[in-house]
Amino acid sequence: MKSPKILIVYYSMYGHMFEMVKQVKAGVEAAGGTVVLRRVAELVPEKFLDEYARQAAEAQKDIEVADPRADLKDIDGVIVGTPTRFGNMAAQVKNFWDQTGGDWAKGTLVGKPAGVITSTATQHGGQESTILATHTVLLHHGCVLVGMPYSIQEQTTLEGLEGGSPYGPGTITGGKGERFPSDLEKKMARDFGAHFTGIAARLQP
Ligand SMILES: Cc1cc2nc3c(=O)[nH]c(=O)nc-3n(C[C@H](O)[C@H](O)[C@H](O)COP(=O)(O)O)c2cc1C
Repeated sequence: MKSPKILIVYYSMYGHMFEMVKQVKAGVEAAGGTVVLRRVAELVPEKFLDEYARQAAEAQKDIEVADPRADLKDIDGVIVGTPTRFGNMAAQVKNFWDQTGGDWAKGTLVGKPAGVITSTATQHGGQESTILATHTVLLHHGCVLVGMPYSIQEQTTLEGLEGGSPYGPGTITGGKGERFPSDLEKKMARDFGAHFTGIAARLQP
């Protein structure tokens, strides 16, 4: 069996999702997978980005920008990382998917696993709705959805504030972006990456 090749395609305006996808990547690799990490193109005009967004962009400058015409080909699964925007996926992420009609028509992703991770400013700010909304696009592509099972038990914690749910890993950032992923959220992201890779390996043609 060859190493499953997993595309992780994400957007991160302030760096929280970037940290989370790095954890997912570590989990995929620990489980024997190979990661292609891509950030989607920014849509906000440069002049409207605040200083924190500029710093986060600088930190991600070495990550290749996603190519919607090329990146879905020859992969064994896709993990989408999107911060919430009003309980939905970020427009930057939707913009990526909206350019994948060619691969939708060819059925490139049919039968391949897909999962979603997210971040919200507040505890009930839409982690589940964001993931479910993103699932819709992935279902239209014919993907097999992979969530975060309760066997990743950290999601049941009653100690403190933690993101993550059976729908997928998540982190809570605070209204000013002052909270970065906790150790528990990072562990869930790694374990999700490993869980996803096991399924991708089993689904390989
Ligand atoms: C236009 C806009 C809408 C947002 N909507 C929500 C929301 O509905 N619920 C929420 O908890 N956070 C919301 N946020 C906060 C973002 O989700 C938060 O900044 C993001 O998760 C941080 O991740 P990042 O550092 O990877 O960009 C919103 C932010 C923006 C800019």
